[in-house]
Amino acid sequence: MSEGYDLVIADGVVQLPGGETVAGWLGVTDGRVVAVGEGAVPRADVVIDASGGQVLPGAIDTHVHFRDPGDTDKEDFTSGSLAAAFGGVTTVVDMPNTGHVVVTPDDFREKCAYLEHRSWVDFGLHANFNDSSGFVDELAELGVASLKWLMGYADWKGYQYQPSSYAETRATFMAAAHASVGVMVHAEALPWLLDFRDRLRAQGRTDVGVHADSRPPFVEAIAVAEAAIVAVEFGCRLHIVHLTGDVPLRTAIALRDALGADLTVETCPQYLFLSDEDVLAQGVSIQANPPIRSLHDQAALWDGIAAGTIFSVASDHAPHLPEDKQAENPLDALSGIVGVETMLPLMVDAAASGRLSLARVVELLCAHPARLVRLDDRKGSLVPGHDADIVIVDLQGRTHVSGEALHSKQHTTPFEGRELRGAIRHVLLRGRPLISAGRLVAREPFGRHAPSLYPRSRSSIARHEAIA
Ligand code: NCD
Ligand code: ZN
Ligand code: ZN
Repeated sequence: MSEGYDLVIADGVVQLPGGETVAGWLGVTDGRVVAVGEGAVPRADVVIDASGGQVLPGAIDTHVHFRDPGDTDKEDFTSGSLAAAFGGVTTVVDMPNTGHVVVTPDDFREKCAYLEHRSWVDFGLHANFNDSSGFVDELAELGVASLKWLMGYADWKGYQYQPSSYAETRATFMAAAHASVGVMVHAEALPWLLDFRDRLRAQGRTDVGVHADSRPPFVEAIAVAEAAIVAVEFGCRLHIVHLTGDVPLRTAIALRDALGADLTVETCPQYLFLSDEDVLAQGVSIQANPPIRSLHDQAALWDGIAAGTIFSVASDHAPHLPEDKQAENPLDALSGIVGVETMLPLMVDAAASGRLSLARVVELLCAHPARLVRLDDRKGSLVPGHDADIVIVDLQGRTHVSGEALHSKQHTTPFEGRELRGAIRHVLLRGRPLISAGRLVAREPFGRHAPSLYPRSRSSIARHEAIA
């Protein structure tokens, strides 16, 4: 009946939801997946040969800092999104801590408009938690991905960042619950951080380990606990970003189970593939908040991936200039590392090495992130009707990680020199080739805003509204 597809991917192993695979073809028309099948390859205007390859949904990185507008000497959206595309990430969700912080609906609209024609991949936007309580309904209508709550920052980029007051925190949680918008939390308890920082500074510590010692795991766990308890109280969904290790993870899961919190946990490649030994070897360049921890913590995260307590993996791509990293005391250096381009290759390598299944990689990097930011009606799995955001990976290929070759404006990677099993061959966004045979083939950026979709019926929390 069909006149043929716009595009067919032929002779690949298509990874479908729930670990199902189809060795065959995938047909695309009007930018969407139309059918997946075995047997004879149907007619199409364009055929991409995927023989020997794995056909995966494009990854959705729900945690990037592309620094645009504002800090475009570190990164801009075009460079960051190009790095994403080369790394098999077809949707990014940008954090609000740019030069102009995204708080109001006008900020949100302006940033969306500004990013049109600047992004190689589709994008969503988080808004800032602080000061947003009056705007949450409207932000939800605009498709905000979450409200980002930065617990644990007293200053940020050298200027004072006022932590959210209790009154503001309460108001914002209530508004978020009302609008069904989730809160994403950077969980580190500020009073403890300041205490540790000041004490270690007074001791004269300037060694590379001082940063991690100033932000120990229990301080992360305390913030996880506070955020979880507050979220339960106000009936709000909570996602803990960049969780680093054993005690924070056990705290999150214990509270989820004990209190029935609607809570999910994310970790990042830097916590799965690096440890404090790498920090000792590489120094401040790989300093991140929260810190990269011990091998014991790393193992606990892998256990969490096996047990299903880790919901998603995101990069926390957070580039800084080399000079931001140069300080006599690591406590004065900026934290954050480059990672959007290496995330999927590292996870594919882990799958090729038998650490987890490829189906689980798809869950952690595609299907679950899509659910998390409410894009799962369009993205995150290769089922008919969904956007044809596709990555074709050759598991027999090899990827050599070289900072010089990364497409970010920053070229320092903690994974320098690693030889990874698997190689990305093709990347398509809404059925249009971005990368073919490892080269950029799109002429200009055509990424667009992918708004998060919220239910119309809003949950209400009458008890707290009564006291507001
Ligand atoms: C991030 C940044 O530089 O924006 N840095 C980091 O170390 N992760 C901020 C953040 O995610 O906390
Ligand atoms: Zn953070
Ligand atoms: Zn971050």
